[in-house]
Amino acid sequence: MARIVLGVTGSVAAIRTPNLYHALREAGHDVRVVATSTALYFFEPADLEPTVTKEGDTLPAGPVIRDSDEWPAVGYRMGEPVVHIELRRWADVLIVAPLDANTLAKFALGISDNTLTCVFRAWDFTRPVILAPAMNTMMWESPVTHRHLSQIIDDRGTCKPAERWPLDEASEVFAECAPGIVLVPPQAKKLACGDFGVGAMAEVPAIAEAVRRMFETAE
Ligand SMILES: Cc1cc2nc3c(=O)[nH]c(=O)nc-3n(C[C@H](O)[C@H](O)[C@H](O)COP(=O)(O)O)c2cc1C
Repeated sequence: MARIVLGVTGSVAAIRTPNLYHALREAGHDVRVVATSTALYFFEPADLEPTVTKEGDTLPAGPVIRDSDEWPAVGYRMGEPVVHIELRRWADVLIVAPLDANTLAKFALGISDNTLTCVFRAWDFTRPVILAPAMNTMMWESPVTHRHLSQIIDDRGTCKPAERWPLDEASEVFAECAPGIVLVPPQAKKLACGDFGVGAMAEVPAIAEAVRRMFETAE
């Protein structure tokens, strides 16, 4: 069905990457994972099916693409593919799940210091993006989160939300003002750090459902 770049960042919720990857594959999607270096502490790339490469592929074999694929030990030669641009050309959808506080901040500010942030910065926003934040409750409820989400809406939205929109309505605010970006909100539960509150990444079926609904709408 769709060609999906699944961005994974350094949240403990990245342990769910194999589950999310398999859910998307079972739904018939072609998936390439772009992992930040810290994301790789939380899951084992060997737990994902190897990508079948086809003649003429300009993407690294994957299924997990790392910064070392963008910056291999041997130097760049003119004419070689640029990995983050090839990923943007290839993909129909960008999912970032989990989206941690650090990468959210980078997305909001336009920082492009790894493959995933370069994909987001170079993204063609006529194609959909799904963001599934995951962070400690105090991080999620910080005014910084509100500022960074607002910045993304301001830069990519089609209307301006009310001045101080409530964070627990982030998903609805994106749907209204930045419909090309689906925010799958974090859930309340006991977090890996022992705190209880909102911040845990949405469950894998909720993220897979957001993808399904996207294509239902597109049909
Ligand atoms: C065990 C552990 C769990 C973490 N979980 C989260 C998390 O759920 N959300 C978050 O925003 N940061 C979390 N962090 C902090 C990020 O890993 C850290 O900000 C890192 O620099 C993120 O890098 P990245 O955005 O490039 O992946 C965690 C760190 C550790 C050591």
